[in-house]
Amino acid sequence: MISHRFTTDRLLIRSVVEADTQELYEKILSDPEVMWYDGARVSADLEDARARVKRFMEWEQQFGMSFWTVTLKQTGEIISNCGLLPVEAKGPEVELGYDTAKQYWHQGYTSEAAEGCLRYGFETLKLDRIISITDEENTGSWKVMEKIGMRRMGFSDKYYDSTCLVYECTPSDIAKHPTNT
Ligand SMILES: CC(C)(COP(=O)(O)OP(=O)(O)OC[C@H]1O[C@@H](n2cnc3c(N)ncnc32)[C@H](O)[C@@H]1OP(=O)(O)O)[C@@H](O)C(=O)NCCC(=O)NCCS
Repeated sequence: MISHRFTTDRLLIRSVVEADTQELYEKILSDPEVMWYDGARVSADLEDARARVKRFMEWEQQFGMSFWTVTLKQTGEIISNCGLLPVEAKGPEVELGYDTAKQYWHQGYTSEAAEGCLRYGFETLKLDRIISITDEENTGSWKVMEKIGMRRMGFSDKYYDSTCLVYECTPSDIAKHPTNT
């Protein structure tokens, strides 16, 4: 059974478990503002959120990685859903993604979680390249990518049947990142 667990300064990032469903639903999966930016569908009810959580858990076993639960170390409360997954659950590229609950925006949490995921991806999962994909107008999302040392590759029509902005990162990009020098 594949399961992941790692920490950053303020956060504990771990595999999603069924018991997270209610909190993920209330704070993230049912919030149109969070899910609209993600391009994903809002979970209309707890049943739908349950199915989504089940899918996160299945991806973990299928791909050895998934979207994970991000909690505050101090209180244990869930603040974000962030992780690594073969793009469109197909790959071959591995994509970093994140959806953070609104009350925790603008406190550096997503950057901290996302950078933690990149490091974990390179150091523990031994990935050699991670991409991230967003819409140009989602400024907050690409700012996170730039803040954690990802490089803007430009626009691509290759993913999600739309024109998206693509960033990438390799282990040497992370090694050169200011937090490491
Ligand atoms: C985009 C999102 C992940 C940002 O999360 P966050 O926790 O607020 O990000 P951080 O606090 O780590 O901020 C990182 C940088 O982005 C900037 N930023 C964050 N949101 C911003 C926004 N809406 N507009 C402009 N800049 C923004 C911050 O100012 C910060 O830059 P700074 O350090 O130079 O000040 C969050 O708004 C979110 O979850 N949105 C909905 C889901 C989503 O869009 N997911 C990504 C799909 S591709």
